[in-house]
Amino acid sequence: MTESLELTETFIQTPHELEAEFRTAAPVRPVKIPSGINGWLVTRHEDVKAVLTDPRTLSLHRTAQGYVPAFVGLSSRVSGVAALRADPARMPDAVEELLRYESPLHTGTLRFTAEDIEIGGVPIPANEFVFVSLLSANRDDAGFEEPDKLDISRSTNGHVAFGHGIRHCLGAPLARLEGRIAIGRVLDLHLAVDPDTLTWRTSSLMRDLEVLPVRTK
Ligand code: HEM
Repeated sequence: MTESLELTETFIQTPHELEAEFRTAAPVRPVKIPSGINGWLVTRHEDVKAVLTDPRTLSLHRTAQGYVPAFVGLSSRVSGVAALRADPARMPDAVEELLRYESPLHTGTLRFTAEDIEIGGVPIPANEFVFVSLLSANRDDAGFEEPDKLDISRSTNGHVAFGHGIRHCLGAPLARLEGRIAIGRVLDLHLAVDPDTLTWRTSSLMRDLEVLPVRTK
């Protein structure tokens, strides 16, 4: 069995690199998340969907906030902003791609095993927490071509930013509308710092920034 790994701030600040390694080396692995809870981290697109549709897992729900990560993703990739300014009709596609690219819920879709299960060939006993990483599933090249590239013209079919299966987000239509309005309002703002220097709040469940410095010119 893969040894349990204690996840640190690196997991919060730079999750994409770490989870890309996990998807290859140990896609279903025991971990302790930064809030101190032990469980199993699931990082592959297929495995995430399998957990979310497995009736032997119980849901522990939290609702997501916000599009701040999306704004960061967009602002740090100027070509995406330019494409949107030039053609606002592309906003719905842009919102969908931003949800995939910088998913607001990281491992927020907590599950608890009511029975023994097997995911991706790894047995997980009953009474364990399972952290399905929506962030990682949305950057899995098994699900999306060149997943680390922000491309508002791609097909985002199958992204799991709003979950998957019976618990798929009930507020998704409202959240999509909010995203279109909010991102439309900030298209003239610019990120005032290098996006790599931004600090993410210490929660591996949701993704939120400590501060988002912007400038108007
Ligand atoms: C960007 C914004 C949002 C994101 C990324 C998001 C994401 C999610 C995700 C991933 C789930 C599945 C949780 C699970 O499987 O355990 C979920 C469920 C849910 N969301 Fe959202 N959500 C957002 C906004 C909203 C809003 C605005 C509302 C309400 C107005 C809402 C209401 C719900 C509810 C009620 C559920 C539970 C559905 C159920 O358990 O059957 N969400 N959301």
